[in-house]
Amino acid sequence: MRVLIAGQGAIGSVLAYRCELHGLDYRVLPRRQKQSIEFQPLDAACLRLPSAQQNPASLRGDELLLLPLKAYQVQSMLEQVSPYLSTQTLVLLHNGLGVLEKARHLAPECSFIQGITRLAAYKQQHRVTQTAQGDTHLSWVSEVNQSREQKVHAVLEELLSPVYWHQDLSEALWRKLVVNSVINPLTALHQVRNGQLSQPQYQAQIQTLIDEARALMQGLGIRGHEDLERAVAEVIEQTSDNYSSMYQDLMQQRPTEIDYINGYLCQEGQRLGIATPEHQAVLEAIHAQQAAT
Ligand SMILES: NC(=O)c1ccc[n+]([C@@H]2O[C@H](COP(=O)([O-])OP(=O)(O)OC[C@H]3O[C@@H](n4cnc5c(N)ncnc54)[C@H](OP(=O)(O)O)[C@@H]3O)[C@@H](O)[C@H]2O)c1
Repeated sequence: MRVLIAGQGAIGSVLAYRCELHGLDYRVLPRRQKQSIEFQPLDAACLRLPSAQQNPASLRGDELLLLPLKAYQVQSMLEQVSPYLSTQTLVLLHNGLGVLEKARHLAPECSFIQGITRLAAYKQQHRVTQTAQGDTHLSWVSEVNQSREQKVHAVLEELLSPVYWHQDLSEALWRKLVVNSVINPLTALHQVRNGQLSQPQYQAQIQTLIDEARALMQGLGIRGHEDLERAVAEVIEQTSDNYSSMYQDLMQQRPTEIDYINGYLCQEGQRLGIATPEHQAVLEAIHAQQAAT
């Protein structure tokens, strides 16, 4: 089974490296002309990724297409390739929610896997450095036959190990969404590292964001809302030295994933008739900062 990797970003390069390591047949779908990526693995010497480029017009239908893109990039990527897509399996690997429905509309014959990963890497120009191994949680969100399921599982378990398969990923997706909806905008707005959010002056705002998100989870019947405070506190502690992706995106004047994190929570609030004023306030504050840069 040929693996296609959309883009040459941080996570995409980790996946290309893993394909190299396991001798898998893979290609990349770059945005423009393919870049030459220098990749620094966690535990091996730096190497140049020799990934070959795929012409979308020559897709066959049986490929496994990995989409390690920012949430706001998935739709335009799929618009570019949708004329050539047929029955591929697509793996969505982004932070935030609200993309799956649009992706399905653009690739109606494809089967989908939704995932969240704790792999970590960052890209500076043409160099990608992996910073954590991290587990990955995946779930099929389409019907699939057993033979294809087995082939896809074998590949993804090589590429994303350790992988945990779920019948229903809603709880894991929402818990990650809530953690991101607190840490990302607050670190970006207050211009602090993740660990500084454990200081007393941020606790009231963190609790309000959690309470609003918990009401949404309860409204939707999603489990796992009881100990959201602990989930947020653990990530703040485990990543205390890090600058969040939203902090870095704002500093570098790049778009952020806010519309798919706090924005998604606000949309769900409107749909369910549940107030989310604190999420709305941080959404507007991040939009204002983006507009000012
Ligand atoms: N990096 C991490 O440690 C990490 C950890 C956990 C979760 N995540 C999540 O994983 C997702 C991917 O993150 P990332 O850090 O890997 O992002 P990234 O480094 O920005 O990678 C995205 C890549 O996709 C490329 N791209 C965008 N649109 C494209 C298109 N239409 N065709 C081809 N390539 C296209 C981008 O190219 P340009 O550079 O030209 O824009 C960029 O190289 C995000 O949702 C992020 O929140 C990341």
